[in-house]
Amino acid sequence: MGAPSPKAPLRVAVLASGRGSNLHSLLRHIAAGHVEARVTLVLSDKPDAGALALARKAGVPAVVALPVEPGEAAAAYDDRVLDALRGERPDLVVLAGYLRIVGSAILDAFPGRVVNIHPSLLPAFQGLKAVRKALRAGARVAGCTTHIVTADLDGGPILLQAAIAVRPGEEEAHLASRILQLEHLLLPRTVQLFAEGRIHVANGVATIAPGPTWFERPGLDLVSGALYAEGF
Ligand code: GRF
Repeated sequence: MGAPSPKAPLRVAVLASGRGSNLHSLLRHIAAGHVEARVTLVLSDKPDAGALALARKAGVPAVVALPVEPGEAAAAYDDRVLDALRGERPDLVVLAGYLRIVGSAILDAFPGRVVNIHPSLLPAFQGLKAVRKALRAGARVAGCTTHIVTADLDGGPILLQAAIAVRPGEEEAHLASRILQLEHLLLPRTVQLFAEGRIHVANGVATIAPGPTWFERPGLDLVSGALYAEGF
């Protein structure tokens, strides 16, 4: 008998509307062997999104620019996204700066397998301009969250969080860029937990099965002073 065949890498589809720094970080962590996944599709509603250019450069097999048609209903647009997704049979759909609400057709097609990264410590500061909201509220601690996407916008089961102390008088752009650095580890880490099959959701709460931790690995760009919480 030969050696058991290695597990196929998790197939990941990424939806992104913007510059794509989280996509870039995911691709880098995959290339470095920290994440056992393949990004098989990158789709954007914005044809000029940096994420698409990055995906082409990285040789992602399917790179799809899918602008919204004039007057197109959200559900009709989602059906077109779903067609593109189905063609690539993803195990996981990652929203990385995707500025549209994902409707029920997509969520039902990939139950518990659509994840988002949000630049706040959810459930605080949901929605757009989360960093600004945190500063305006005088938050002393800020950070980011990965969560499973449900119909409840930014309200689905929390997966991982990372936190940093807000500096006195810190400007929004500065805090946002420090949070982004946290995001660049949190999202790849979240994908790896899916690859390891360690995420389980019951009664709206996600649990992570015990296993190897990640944040002590050499070669990761950890932000000093940050708290990375894996919850197991
Ligand atoms: C990130 O701040 C993410 O939390 C939010 O959108 C931003 C995307 O940034 N959902 P990028 O396009 O990955 O650089």
